Amino acid sequence: MRDNKVEEVEKRLEEDKTNISTLNQLNDLKIKYLGKKGLISSLNQLIKDIPNEEKKEFGQSVNQVRENFNQFYEQKKRYFEDEQLNKQLERETIDITLPATKVRRGSKHPVNRMIEKIEDLFVSMGYDVMTGPELETDEFCFERLNLPKGHPARDMQDSFYITEEYLLRTQTSAVQARTLLANKNDPKPIREIVPGKTYRKEDDATHSHQFCQCEGLVIDKKENHVSLADLKGTLEVFVKEVIGDNLDLRFRPSYFPFTEPSYEVDVSCFKCGGKGCPLCKDTGWIEILGAGIVHPNVLRMNGYDPEKWGGFAFGPGLERLTMFRYGIPDMRYLYTNDIRFLEEFDRGDESDAIK
Ligand code: PHE
Repeated sequence: MRDNKVEEVEKRLEEDKTNISTLNQLNDLKIKYLGKKGLISSLNQLIKDIPNEEKKEFGQSVNQVRENFNQFYEQKKRYFEDEQLNKQLERETIDITLPATKVRRGSKHPVNRMIEKIEDLFVSMGYDVMTGPELETDEFCFERLNLPKGHPARDMQDSFYITEEYLLRTQTSAVQARTLLANKNDPKPIREIVPGKTYRKEDDATHSHQFCQCEGLVIDKKENHVSLADLKGTLEVFVKEVIGDNLDLRFRPSYFPFTEPSYEVDVSCFKCGGKGCPLCKDTGWIEILGAGIVHPNVLRMNGYDPEKWGGFAFGPGLERLTMFRYGIPDMRYLYTNDIRFLEEFDRGDESDAIK
């Protein structure tokens, strides 16, 4: 009869097992059999009424049922957990074969590419890259560059004055005066370039009211003889590197208040090779920058003794150089931000340069 009890529980268990399809049901089953008043636990209660000699056997059969249950429980539990995990993984699966949403990347503006090119070149030659304020004072933009108020050469550059004292800088040359003056208590050699934005009140077809220049300034002790030949050599390297090989340079005497002598520098037209074409207006030459030997007044006014110090300066406009380098036919492309044009410069290499 007692054995029958165990068998009965076993039978029910086998039957119940077939109806378990969730983890919750499995846990309920555990309570039903192994809980305090569970079917298996209750079998243990019977032991006290069993004759001693049968106790062992009875106990073993109960243990077997319990063992049986535990095995089933563990196995089923693992099964449900795996099933749950698989479902979750399935839900969270990412189909890596689906086409991705295209991430739109910006591209470097061609003028910025040109600036980086110039910086790399001059840094490799030991120059510092400097900056200065775009909202500049009349003092630094003109007066300290040997251009006193009322000087006729001020008309060369139509300025945007903000107040009587402040204007948008018309030239990066303003930073020449700033650097010199910053060293005035302890003058030392200077080798710097200053790429940056400049502003003039003009807006015809070939000029923009805002454009970029890159000042160059080299100052050294007189005995080191920084000469016109050095300026020429520097500009030859510059032109070769930023526009292209095999171009001739031409120095045309010109006038700037802060250099003496002053020059405008032309390169031979890379389009027609100097024969004459619409780009060079049939002259065979294209003007690219102003340059010269730093005027003694500029040195003196900014704390450098012109008896002891000397050097050269130059200042190309960067839009034209950029147009030449990349073969851009119209300056307006540089400022209208047409995405189709800008994306042309998304190549990340320099394969598009004329070389
Ligand atoms: N700042 C001059 C200009 O804007 C160019 C220049 C720079 C000339 C340095 C001489 C020396 O036209």
